[in-house]
Order: sequence, then structure tokens, then C-alpha cells
Amino acid sequence: MAQVLCHLPKTYDEKLIVGIDTSDDAAVYKINETTALIQTVDFFTPVVDDPYIFGQIAAANSLSDIYAMGGEPKLAMNIVCFPTCLSPDVMAEILRGGYDKINEAGALLVGGHTVEDDEPKYGLSVSGFIHPDKVLTNCNAKHGDFLVLTKPLGIGIINTAIKAQMADDEIYNLAVNNMRTLNKFAKDAMVKVGVNSCTDITGFGLLGHSLEMANGSDVTIMFESSKIPIIKKAAEFAAMGLVPAGAYSNMQFIGEKVKFNEQISQEVIDILFDPQTSGGLLISVSQHKLDKLLEELKESPTEFSVIGKVLKKQEYSIIVE
Ligand code: CO
Ligand code: CO
Ligand code: CO
Repeated sequence: MAQVLCHLPKTYDEKLIVGIDTSDDAAVYKINETTALIQTVDFFTPVVDDPYIFGQIAAANSLSDIYAMGGEPKLAMNIVCFPTCLSPDVMAEILRGGYDKINEAGALLVGGHTVEDDEPKYGLSVSGFIHPDKVLTNCNAKHGDFLVLTKPLGIGIINTAIKAQMADDEIYNLAVNNMRTLNKFAKDAMVKVGVNSCTDITGFGLLGHSLEMANGSDVTIMFESSKIPIIKKAAEFAAMGLVPAGAYSNMQFIGEKVKFNEQISQEVIDILFDPQTSGGLLISVSQHKLDKLLEELKESPTEFSVIGKVLKKQEYSIIVE
């Protein structure tokens, strides 16, 4: 997306705090001294067969970009593509799942738009608010910071296994619960503590979104592969070749910017490139606030972990140990 967007003429406005140039999660526009508007849109094709759960996941994913900026989502609009050959009950279930997540987020569903399409797609356009001085961009990680990830990786691989009917109920439920969990808890924790930088991990995988953070912040990011939380069975499925195409395009696009320790297995490398659906927040926090952040995250509904550090800019943007 970023490559296509960069061919468009650049937009400048003194009140535009975050625009399209830094591939951040959402745009931010200053309204006055105490309020800025955050705006984002996201939608995709079903990742699970159950329409209600798909609605929950798609909405949680769309709301996440507001959380990744440190903001509070307020207004949401449905974006729906739907084929005439499917029962309208299916659409109603998708929208009910989305509505429940919008409601859980404390936001309001205020409209939407539907078009006819061969394949169903669903997501939200979301507006949120934040104090203009509190905006968390993806380009302010500081040398010496620690990196915290708030959901485990491997969702794309697990979804591939689910489609191949290789995953049992336990794994399915693990994946679904991770995807539909709002990043609200993690966002509240990081806003309370005060952190330097944040982005959410979605289609470009951990390494793709980290690369945006590293380049935007002019630093090198170092991950300790042994500390990265991985959903049960994801490594096993990856070893069986159940890796989504998106992982390979991520690898092609960013692989040469990453230096891997030779000991790291191919499964783990696949997982680091794996595109995530509604993944967690990657938070860059200064060393003296790390313990406080971990304390705030203690009751987190999802697995979280300190997975790396921010180093001074080096030859490689990302180093995986
Ligand atoms: Co995002
Ligand atoms: Co997004
Ligand atoms: Co951000």
C-alpha cells in the first residue's frame, strides 16, 4: 500500500500531525489545543467460516489502528461487500459481531455502506480522539528502549492450517480468541505508563511493521527470538509448510534489511514474517518505565512479552538473535 500511495502528491497542512508519509496506523489531525482526530479504515475477506466471529475479528482489527496511536475510538462505520447468492442472515451475523466489538470498545456505530461483490468483505472506518501531545507514532522509538509485544505470533500460519482442516478445536479457539480480543487493554496500559512509540502487527508481520518503526525512528531493532510469544502449534504447522503466501511476499520485500542469527530455525523465521490478522501492539518503552508497563499489563487478556531492544542505527535495520 505504501508504495502505491507514495506516487500520489503529498498533502501538507499544519494541523496534520500524522499523514501518509510514515506508513503509520492512522492519520491524525489537530482540531484544537486539546483534541486531535484519528482516522483509519480497514476491511478484508473472511478468515474464519463463522460469520459472527468474522465480524468480531474484522472490527477488532479496524479498531486496533486507533489504539496503536494511543487513542480512543469513538465513531465507527461499517464497510460491507456482499454477494447476492449468500443469505442476508449471514450479513446480519457479520454485522452483529462487528457491533458487539464496537460496543465493547465504547464506540458508536453511526452508519456504513454496502456494495455487491463476489466475495464477502467486512471492516470499519473508525474515527477516534486523542490529546495532540499524546499521539503515539510508529517513528519515535528511542535507543535504549525495550520492545513489548502484546499478542502471540503465528495467526496467519494457524489460519492456513484451519483452512487445510489441520487444526483442532483447541488451536482454533486459541487463534480466534487472540484475533477478536481488542487491543484496548494494552492501549490503556501503555497510555497510563507513557511510552515512546507503538504500532500494531498486522499484514506485514512482526518484521515488516518493525522495519517501519526502525526506519521511521532512525534506529536498529534487535529481537530475541527465544522471547517471542508464539501460538501453540504454529511452529509445527510452519515446519509442515502451512505458511501463507503473504509471509513469502513479506520476506521478499524486507528480508535483506534483516540479519538473522544462523541458529534460528526456518519455522521461527516464517513466523516472524507471518502476516497477522488483528495482531497485538508492538510498544517501544524506555527502560525506566518497562517494569511499570509490565505491571499494568499483568491482567492482560492476551499473552505478552518483552521481545527485544532498540539499538543505535546500524547496517541492518533489524537484527534477530
Ligand atoms: Co496498523
Ligand atoms: Co490498518
Ligand atoms: Co501508531
